[in-house]
Amino acid sequence: MDVAQATPATPGRPDTETVLRLADVTVRFGGITAVDAVTLDVPRGQVVGLIGPNGAGKTTLLDAISGLRTPTEGRVALDGADVTSRSAAWLSRHGVRRTFQRHQAFGWLSVRQNVLVPLEWRTRGRGLLGDVLGLPHRRRETAALLERADEVIELCGLSAVRDVSAATLPIGRLRLLEFARAIVDAPRLLLLDEPTSGLGPRETELLREVLLGLVERHELTVVLVEHDIDFVMGLADRIVCLVQGSVLADGPPAEIRRNPEVIAAYLGS
Ligand SMILES: Nc1ncnc2c1ncn2[C@@H]1O[C@H](COP(=O)(O)OP(=O)(O)OP(=O)(O)O)[C@@H](O)[C@H]1O
Ligand SMILES: [Mg+2]
Repeated sequence: MDVAQATPATPGRPDTETVLRLADVTVRFGGITAVDAVTLDVPRGQVVGLIGPNGAGKTTLLDAISGLRTPTEGRVALDGADVTSRSAAWLSRHGVRRTFQRHQAFGWLSVRQNVLVPLEWRTRGRGLLGDVLGLPHRRRETAALLERADEVIELCGLSAVRDVSAATLPIGRLRLLEFARAIVDAPRLLLLDEPTSGLGPRETELLREVLLGLVERHELTVVLVEHDIDFVMGLADRIVCLVQGSVLADGPPAEIRRNPEVIAAYLGS
């Protein structure tokens, strides 16, 4: 199916309301079809929970959306523009931000430095000399970025470890740090791969509150891969269940919870 021909999820809404459009996205690894002709429209502001058994293709689908892997077939569109062949760096600068199943923090950098990394590109190429000489506009720019980083660090409960090197953090804090990095530069589309894994109950609650706040304030669009069913069902507007690379079910959380096929393939009794 062509991207332009994919059916809008919400008929009647203008097309610009569709942030993410997947049309027959397929990813193969040799003989394995990890993602099998997934077609999905995500309207602005929606939180989509992506669930399914191990090996269902959830991470591979996030890789295809975020530009880490070019689909073998099919198209990915962002805000109506075809981005199928765009690089991860390009997509990241255009507001597609993600976290990884295994954290990717820079261990040798402090928490604050880690959170500043995604903001760094905003200053690049605008006069290194200004930095060196400490020109006023450069100082103001740097101060604004530091302020933004510290705001997110506080939001994610990391203020106490702001100047600590990431390598020394326990896993829960590392996951929250990765989340902080994903949200610091105001994403348009946030992709989260099992964000609660490694979090304690309090950290999970904190993450839930921060995510809810972001979604309410900024019309953030989220694709959330999660095995913690209560967490994902509580947050998502819509659940997509992937099995063997294909969409088995797509609907509101309450409906998916009692879908016999989803229960048989994944949720269990
Ligand atoms: N780089 C790769 N090379 C070959 N096969 C891969 C690669 N990455 C993933 N796969 C295969 O693709 C399929 C989907 O894997 P994927 O990691 O996307 O599943 P998942 O739904 O994220 O699973 P989990 O819940 O365990 O994280 C699996 O069969 C996996 O073995
Ligand atoms: Mg995965």
